[in-house]
Amino acid sequence: MITLSNNPTLNPVPMPQDDDEDPRNGAVEANDHAHQSPLKKPRLTRPISEPDILQEFSHHQQGFARINNGSFGSCPRSVLSAQNTWHLRFLQQPDEFFFNSLRKGILESRAAVKALINADDVDDVSLVDNATTAAAIVLQQVGRQFADGSFRKNDAVIMFHCAFPAVKKSIGAYIGPAGGSVVEVRLPFPVRSNEEIIAEFKKGLERGKINGGRVRFAMIDHITSMPSVVLPVRELIRVCREEGVDQVFVDGAHSIGSVPVDVKEIDADFYVSNLYKWFFAPPAVAFLHCKNSKGLVDLHHPVVSQEYGKGLALESSWVGNRDYTPQLVVPSILEFVNRFEGGIKGIMKRNHDGVVKMGTMLAESWGTMLGSPPEMCASMIMVGLPSRLCVTSDDDAMSLRTHLRVYHRIEVPTYYQALRNEDRDPKDKDGFITGYVRISRQIYNTDEDYHRLKNAINQILEDGKICSMLPVE
Ligand SMILES: Cc1ncc(COP(=O)(O)O)c(C=O)c1O
Repeated sequence: MITLSNNPTLNPVPMPQDDDEDPRNGAVEANDHAHQSPLKKPRLTRPISEPDILQEFSHHQQGFARINNGSFGSCPRSVLSAQNTWHLRFLQQPDEFFFNSLRKGILESRAAVKALINADDVDDVSLVDNATTAAAIVLQQVGRQFADGSFRKNDAVIMFHCAFPAVKKSIGAYIGPAGGSVVEVRLPFPVRSNEEIIAEFKKGLERGKINGGRVRFAMIDHITSMPSVVLPVRELIRVCREEGVDQVFVDGAHSIGSVPVDVKEIDADFYVSNLYKWFFAPPAVAFLHCKNSKGLVDLHHPVVSQEYGKGLALESSWVGNRDYTPQLVVPSILEFVNRFEGGIKGIMKRNHDGVVKMGTMLAESWGTMLGSPPEMCASMIMVGLPSRLCVTSDDDAMSLRTHLRVYHRIEVPTYYQALRNEDRDPKDKDGFITGYVRISRQIYNTDEDYHRLKNAINQILEDGKICSMLPVE
């Protein structure tokens, strides 16, 4: 039981519970082991109603179809209010706050995350700003191993081609100059099965051995950003272990709050997830779980403070004077999610079912298809755009995104994928599909949001426009 005595507003909150396995916890097969998830059935404190939900998100700009929770997340008013209480506590008496409250509050949040992700030890859980910071922590450590000769010049790191740009650039910045080479595996898309992904990844591991080197490090997304697909992380990690890959880092930037995360089952060396995307935290906070962090003396926060050398969790809990309130509100977030039937697990199911239903509605209306089977998505899904829109470049995709925001009040990311293989590339009745939208579903969304998107695209087609003709200002 976690004691939340240091929380400014709230009583102890029970953890949500989970009875059954979810294959999107990175498993290829749903029932290949006995699963004991940490997500306990929540005791409903004050059940939330639909008007309560509207009120919780009443700070969102009205009249916008906001179907891009995946990029920046969302934070309900009750959590913002708890954050403000922390702000005031700091401003009222900074000394008292610094010496008596801050460390304790962050520890309580870390303990809550530990329980949520089934970690062994709270020392293995650090709170950092975001996934980009976590990537820097992990990759700087890998770079040092190349620099000091533990990893050799011919050795490689492996990742999917669609790894998040910031993480990809971090690999370039920290690994390349230190002498490592990089193997990029193309994610099959549109994707039909986990097996397709695993087969491509295995080929990538073989490429990494060319020139007599070894693959030392794998960076695997749990849910890729663009195109968005839930990857079979457990199976991919198993393959890495069989092939002798030294370290695996899972970029789960989108995971917590949209798929179950059990770090023991996933068994990565490092696992990061943002809390601000799908777990209702304010910007910006993420957890980084490091397996057996006590053995990893060479793991450091990129910002060196007086806590340097005391372990990553402590280093991360003080990186100089700044706003720590996002790290302090995790107990308040649990209070919020436990007002929903089924707690966070109930929210995940509601969002998943809703996004699949709306993605299917859009694909049927446009005569296109989903970018992945429903079981390979969580709360975001890719939907093919009609070929008549002629999305023929990244610029076209960006024009469409801007046009939808400015002229139709719809926030939705768009994606261009060049034709690769005519036998495999998807088609609608007019030609090849090269454009997609990534729709998100969060508890504040209504079906109306997605119907607005459907109508906007249909309107553009009725007007005889293609992407490159669309006004964007
Ligand atoms: C897969 C993935 N990794 C990393 C990031 C970077 O997250 P942040 O901006 O919080 O560092 C994102 C952001 O959307 C992402 O989608």
